[in-house]
Amino acid sequence: MKIAVIGCGYLGAVHSAAMSSVGHEVVGVDVDPRKLEMLSSGHAPFYEPGFDELLTEQVATGRLSFTDDFSKVADAEVIFIGVGTPQTEGSNAADLRYVNSAIESLKPYIGAHTLIAGKSTVPVGTAARLASEIESTGARMLWNPEFLREGFAVQDTLRPDRLVYGIGDGDTTSVAQLDEVYRSILDTGVDRIVTDFATAELVKVSANAFLATKISFINAMAEIAEQVGADVTELADAIGLDERIGRKFLNSGLGFGGGCLPKDIRAFQARAEEVGATESLQFLSEVDKVNLRRRDHVVDLAARELDALGSKRVAVLGLAFKPNSDDVRDSAALDVAARLTADGYEVRGYDPKAGETAGRVQPDLDIRSTLAEAVAEADVIVVGTEWAEFKEVDPATLESPAKVVIDGRNTLDRKRWHDAGFKVIALGRRT
Ligand code: UGA
Repeated sequence: MKIAVIGCGYLGAVHSAAMSSVGHEVVGVDVDPRKLEMLSSGHAPFYEPGFDELLTEQVATGRLSFTDDFSKVADAEVIFIGVGTPQTEGSNAADLRYVNSAIESLKPYIGAHTLIAGKSTVPVGTAARLASEIESTGARMLWNPEFLREGFAVQDTLRPDRLVYGIGDGDTTSVAQLDEVYRSILDTGVDRIVTDFATAELVKVSANAFLATKISFINAMAEIAEQVGADVTELADAIGLDERIGRKFLNSGLGFGGGCLPKDIRAFQARAEEVGATESLQFLSEVDKVNLRRRDHVVDLAARELDALGSKRVAVLGLAFKPNSDDVRDSAALDVAARLTADGYEVRGYDPKAGETAGRVQPDLDIRSTLAEAVAEADVIVVGTEWAEFKEVDPATLESPAKVVIDGRNTLDRKRWHDAGFKVIALGRRT
């Protein structure tokens, strides 16, 4: 099938390559020339495990191409919309300008043969509005939210937990058309839920709101544990054994960041307010507050330890919002590093993959290219992202004057670090 994907970020670029890998002819459309040049030559413009290899392979087949020319989508049967919906500056609401402009740019090239399948995370009501905007072209609209996680984007796209189709009234033609696109995925027996536009949009934002709530719940328990000398990891293990609760997403630490959960819970609240349901999502503002307090807490802990030592020198290990990604959007680790720098501490940051992206966002931050360099003159070490490299490092052979480590992700083997002479401060845990 001929398909197009508008927007070639984490979502769109991976979707394009994945759809090509199951045999479709795919054109990815984006407006960023740097991204297009890299993608066209088979090189990933961001770090995502397995993606570079998949891209190289798929570009070489000749089935996958990238362009800034919207007219190239004219013969596509299905056009996916995968552009970003960031937080609007100065407000909590989602900024829909990229979605709106994608639809405007597509209008001259779509017709009765076209199915537009929206994947971007949008406020409930958007799909219905867009469907009426394209009605005169004869094209159909379907909302097909995406649940991929960065760091697992390729596997989540090709082996999703579920597929959700939000359709207009009785639009079985669009269901059949999207089924054809996803045939090889559906053949694995994956659950497919067909529903209305509003429910499909809500499935996405409520899933992210639930995940964010789960993380803030365990971080609130960490705050209590710190007050009473309990251990939040043992608590999470114990409650997680109840199948109704589950152990996943109960890892306490610096909390959630990234381009999705923080802005999605805010946009969801903004939309609830617009539809007259402010109170229903009031709790999400607490979820947000608990989350942001973890960053304050780590900044305070690091400052306290440094001041006690009469030192300014601190290493922050990990700058990405999560391991196996170079994405620093709303990264808690980078926020901690930036705030300590702004407070006058001499911070050296290091991340296995996100050094360059972090440097673009925080040009004042001293970012080193190896862990060894970052810790070489540090008196306190803060672990901000649970990369395997940090878990595996041998504290006994670490060449650093530091004797204090703050584990912002509860990721280190505490005994090993204790045995190597470190004071280990782990969030919500007995030290
Ligand atoms: C999230 C969702 O998990 C995806 O299902 C969704 O498709 C995606 O947003 C999206 O809306 O596009 P992602 O942002 O890639 O995916 O990352 P997550 O794995 O959800 O992690 C988000 C943040 O929560 C990270 O900063 C991570 O460190 C933190 N986290 C996660 C915790 O602090 N504790 C946990 O137990 C789990």
